[in-house]
Amino acid sequence: MSDLPFQPDEIGYWSELKLEIVEKYGHGYTNAFNKLGARLKKYYIDGFSGAGIHLSKRTGEPIDGSPARALRITPPFNYFHFIDMNADKTAYLEKVRDGRANVEIHTGDTNPYLKQLLPTIKYGDYKRALCLLDPYGLDLDWEVMRISGQLKTVDMFLNFPIMDINRNVLRHDRSKVAPEDIERMNRFWGDESWRAAAYVESGQASMFDFEPEKLKQDNPAIAAAFRERLQKVAGFKYVPQPLPMRNKNNAVLYYLFFASANDTGRKIVEDTFKRYRLNI
Ligand SMILES: C[S@@+](CC[C@H](N)C(=O)[O-])C[C@H]1O[C@@H](n2cnc3c(N)ncnc32)[C@H](O)[C@@H]1O
Repeated sequence: MSDLPFQPDEIGYWSELKLEIVEKYGHGYTNAFNKLGARLKKYYIDGFSGAGIHLSKRTGEPIDGSPARALRITPPFNYFHFIDMNADKTAYLEKVRDGRANVEIHTGDTNPYLKQLLPTIKYGDYKRALCLLDPYGLDLDWEVMRISGQLKTVDMFLNFPIMDINRNVLRHDRSKVAPEDIERMNRFWGDESWRAAAYVESGQASMFDFEPEKLKQDNPAIAAAFRERLQKVAGFKYVPQPLPMRNKNNAVLYYLFFASANDTGRKIVEDTFKRYRLNI
């Protein structure tokens, strides 16, 4: 790996599972849509694509990332969009693209790019997209998720970064939270309603009796509130229970969400998530 012009991410067991889940879904997706004829155009959009290669912590060996996996799916997608901020990673993606003309690689912030691209994936134009939004933390703008939900053409896998949220936003001492972290949370969640979802009044007076004590909710409650937003505010018809993805100490790093307008997609993902949950 020393020949790579960047330090590859070392990924743990759960990230490998995520890659496996998205790739398997991609196979099912293009197979199902292919049966509907060539007029229907299938897009694969990877909003936080990485370089297409990582190092597996488990084996110490290189392992394909999500863009490389999407490119090997058969039947193939018609168009691919890979977006990453890191220019060394997108430079490597040029190698992964290997001259294919139907692959767009963009270096920069995914948010403005997707706000322009997604509205072009119109139902009436026979376009559909599988979109992977896999940030490290709160780097995604709610508007991207809202547009995806409204379109009814997007199947979305989303990494909900609960570890970043807990560490930086939902801190025990709320006076220590940096304004920029609150800003990142507002942008990801879409408004400030996360406060009500994350803290509920305990019914007890606090030390300062003019302000009732607030209890921080646990991870499943916060993920459930976000799931409800994806359904009720973004407008995704189907949002299966997300899959908690853990680190080696069994702490939840993020929740893998799937959201779609498509009932077949829901069934496949619910089945898949159930199997992975049983393997925990
Ligand atoms: C978790 S990694 C992606 C891994 C990849 N999806 C995979 O499974 O192979 C997150 C990537 O997002 C990129 N990134 C972070 N903020 C970004 C932003 N605002 N826009 C685009 N890319 C961003 C990072 O450079 C990093 O490569």
